[in-house]
This record gives sequence, structure tokens and C-alpha cells, in this order.
Amino acid sequence: ASVVEEHVSEMVGTERVDEDYADVDWDNLGFSLVRTDYMFATRSCREGNFEQGCLSRYGNIELNPAAGILNYGQGLIEGMKAYRREDGRVLLFRPELNAVRMKKGAERMCMHSPSVQQFIEGVKQTVLANRRWVPPPGKGSLYLRPLLFGSGASLGLSAASEFTFLVFGSPVQNYFKEGTAALNLYVEEVIPRAYPGGSGGVKSISNYGPVLEVMRKAKARGFSDVLYLDAETKKNIEEVSASNIFLVKGNTIVTPATNGTILGGITRKSVIEIAIDLGYKVEERVVPVEELKDAEEVFCTGTATGVASVGSITFQNTRTEYKVGDGLVTQQLGSILVGIQTGSIQDIKNWVVEI
Ligand code: COI
Repeated sequence: ASVVEEHVSEMVGTERVDEDYADVDWDNLGFSLVRTDYMFATRSCREGNFEQGCLSRYGNIELNPAAGILNYGQGLIEGMKAYRREDGRVLLFRPELNAVRMKKGAERMCMHSPSVQQFIEGVKQTVLANRRWVPPPGKGSLYLRPLLFGSGASLGLSAASEFTFLVFGSPVQNYFKEGTAALNLYVEEVIPRAYPGGSGGVKSISNYGPVLEVMRKAKARGFSDVLYLDAETKKNIEEVSASNIFLVKGNTIVTPATNGTILGGITRKSVIEIAIDLGYKVEERVVPVEELKDAEEVFCTGTATGVASVGSITFQNTRTEYKVGDGLVTQQLGSILVGIQTGSIQDIKNWVVEI
């Protein structure tokens, strides 16, 4: 059976006891996997409802070789972060949006999904059980990776008969090896990330494998990451491998509209809402690649990447540079977002959930 084995029966209390930290070099965290103590898992039954779920020791899982995830790619990922506030409280950022996004993705991928409440509960239990892995304030966050995958076996092409919802975490700091330095992006003209009618608008695992070779080549040439164009016309910018993209043009902030090929990022949505509150005009629309030349600032957004400045973009071997040192709009939006996420700015929008 495709069971996530429970290695221990030990459950972790919800009492807030510790301020002791795991043995981690908090000043040198990047974005590589650090094994934490526990993971959470639950499986669906025939009717599609998910069991209550439980924590087990973090470790390998057992899968049937005919599992839907292994054979037919029925899998979704989510990305979230838990931050430790100065006063020790641990905060999640808009977790219901991740839960709803996973539900939408599950519909697209013909999967059963946990309820919003079950999703959030699984995430909270994972954070509580791994509390000592939540970095000290200012040193990063506990990145959470909720997964939903076909764990039931089938030989012919069909939806899995059983799904597993699993959450694990890893303490992280900066996503890019560049740290907080500006990124230099390469515009890929041949291979698109997504195509109309495909799965680009949901967080299917099938969106990520196909960009790896493109990324590898770009990184070998010294670029930080790749910006993809739309599949149909190859004229409009869509998304970076693991983040959304924004252009700043005077008082206007422009980002490609989510039209089914672009992931509706939660950081993207939050940055748009913050920008509107600050009085910027935000345009979500088709963005021709040529328009990059007129942008004063460019930045990427994502849960893993945060708000990351772009210093240059290379398109058809022509490099366009952007204001970074004084990229005031990027800095302003990024610092407000992080302030809310980490509890240093008052959360008037009720975005933050304390664990
Ligand atoms: C995230 O930003 O959380 C993501 O899931 C992107 C991932 C490919 C690193």
C-alpha cells in the first residue's frame, strides 16, 4: 500500500514550551533541504475525503511502483513560509490562499484534495512539531512544502484511487545563490514554460521538470534564472522558472495577467494589493517583451524567492539594465511585505495567522 509509514507514535504537544533551537548555522542558510524532525500526512478514502492525518518522523515514504504520481504525474506542490516574530510567536502568511490554490489544482489534475481546514491544520501541526527549526527573527523562515499526490496504484491511464496529502518543512533564507544581489535573467525564446489549456496556472509538478534543462543552460552561461515567453506568439513575457515578474514604469506597476498559463502567486497577489494601497496604478495585462526596455525597475515575486530585484535582462543577446541600488519601488514593496509577514508591520489586512 502507498502508505506514509508512521515511524513513531509520539505526538507533539501544542503547548508552547521551547525557545531552544535546532543545531543549524542560522547565518549561512540558503535554500537547500535541511532535514527537520517531523512531517504530516493523510490519505484520502474512496469517497475522496481525507483522514484526520498525523505526524510521523521525517523520512522516506513507501510508494507502490504503480502509484499515480510515479506513472502519470498526478502531483501538486505548494510553498509557504512560517516566520518567528521578535516576541517568539510563529506566523503563517495567508495560508487559506495556498489551500484554495491546491483545491483548484486538484480539480485540474483530477485529484481529490483535503478541505481548506484540513490543509491549514496539517501545515500548523508541521510547524508546531518542527518549531525549533523556525529560524530566529531576521534569519529566514521555515519553508513549508505541502504536497498532494496520487498514491493509489493503476496501470492504465486513469486517476489514482487514493491521494496523499503530505507536509514537510525546511529552514531557508535566500533562494538564489546571489543572496539579495540583483538577478540577471535570460529570456528563453524557444521553450515556453506553459501553454494555453495546459497546467501552467496551477502548481502542478509538471510545470517544473520541463524547465530544468533550460535553467541549467542559462545558469552555465552565468544567468541567475530564465524568463519565459508565451507559447503562442513568443512575443509576451509570462513568468520566471519559480516566480512571477513585475515591471515598474513611473507610478505604474505592470505584471502579466494570469490567463491560465501564469501561476497566480500569493506573493504576486499580495504585492499587487500593497501597491494599490500605496497609490500605484497596477496593470495586469499582456506584457510584450519589448516593454522591458522601458521599465525603470524589474522584480520577481514568489514565496521561495520573496521580492527579488532584477538587475538586467538579456533578450536576443541584448542586455537591458535596471535601477537596483535605488530601486525604490521594489524596496518599498518588498519591505512592507516582509514587515507584515514577520509581524514588524501591523497586519491591518488580517493576512497573518498565528500558530
Ligand atoms: C515557491 O515559491 O514556494 C515555489 O513553490 C517555487 C518552487 C519551484 C521553488
